[in-house]
Amino acid sequence: MSNIKIPSSWDIPENQITLEEVYLNRRSFLEQIGKATAGALALSVFPSFLSSTQASENFQDRITPENLVTRYNNFYEFGTNKESIQYLAKKLPQENWILKIAGQVAKPRTLDLEKFLRGRSLEQRVYRLRCVETWSAIIPWTGFPLRDLIKALDPLSTARYIKFQTFLNPNVAAGQKERFWEPWPYTDGLSMTEAMHPLAFLAVGIYGHPLPPQNGAPIRLVVPWKYGFKSIKSIASMEFVSEAPTTFWQTTAPLDYDFWSNVNPNVPYARWDQHYETLLGKNQKVKTLLYNGYADEVGGLY
Ligand code: MTE
Repeated sequence: MSNIKIPSSWDIPENQITLEEVYLNRRSFLEQIGKATAGALALSVFPSFLSSTQASENFQDRITPENLVTRYNNFYEFGTNKESIQYLAKKLPQENWILKIAGQVAKPRTLDLEKFLRGRSLEQRVYRLRCVETWSAIIPWTGFPLRDLIKALDPLSTARYIKFQTFLNPNVAAGQKERFWEPWPYTDGLSMTEAMHPLAFLAVGIYGHPLPPQNGAPIRLVVPWKYGFKSIKSIASMEFVSEAPTTFWQTTAPLDYDFWSNVNPNVPYARWDQHYETLLGKNQKVKTLLYNGYADEVGGLY
């Protein structure tokens, strides 16, 4: 198999990005994820993915320091205090993670994640993450395009959407006992066209390490042109369905959140004006861009 990769429109050369030291530590990632998956993983290519619009804006080129991204988290299964998630999420058992594949696919089945990752080529992508709460971050993820998995699963032609769900385990995730939000488990979805877009990504690593629990270990979705809540963490099941699934946030706060939830500065949310955002660690508001700066890539989808 060839390791040559044709650059995509959202690639920018790595030397134009200010890299965190830790991000460059690739060997250590290999060692760690090798341990985590008890097998050899081939990290073949490490392109960086920022849209050209972002690449031209100096302050936005900088990767957010790792300690900010891993210590300020939204993961409602473990409560609402963003600074506590890093401690509480440690309770989530990671071993023998099973990903259930259900619905309209050639062969519904369960995937043993460790086995699935063994020998698989992973790539690194630097994406912007824009939370609907108006904070944002620039994060190097390691993983593989969602569409690679979809193709391997051979969905039926009737499958128009994918419904993703997080684990359900109120014994370790006390937030799931909380009835303020309903229903658990956390659910989100993409249309099949969105899911097949090359930007839609499944991450198993971050900053050159395996994902820590608070960032959605062992596997999470990253959809950089949508608000961060669409990037569902700790995925336990993927179901191929013909109708758009109702998402966790649509049920919980229907006036705030719709199914699509693409980043769009011109559509205000009940609680937040979406024109500006503040990068974690920066004391400066910057303009939010349509589709989070990925309009050239995904604008054609809508
Ligand atoms: N996934 C699950 N299962 N539960 C959550 O509460 N929060 C979402 C998203 N994925 C969430 C989730 C929100 S609101 C955001 S902004 C991002 O995760 C935050 O990802 P990060 O903590 O890795 O930055």
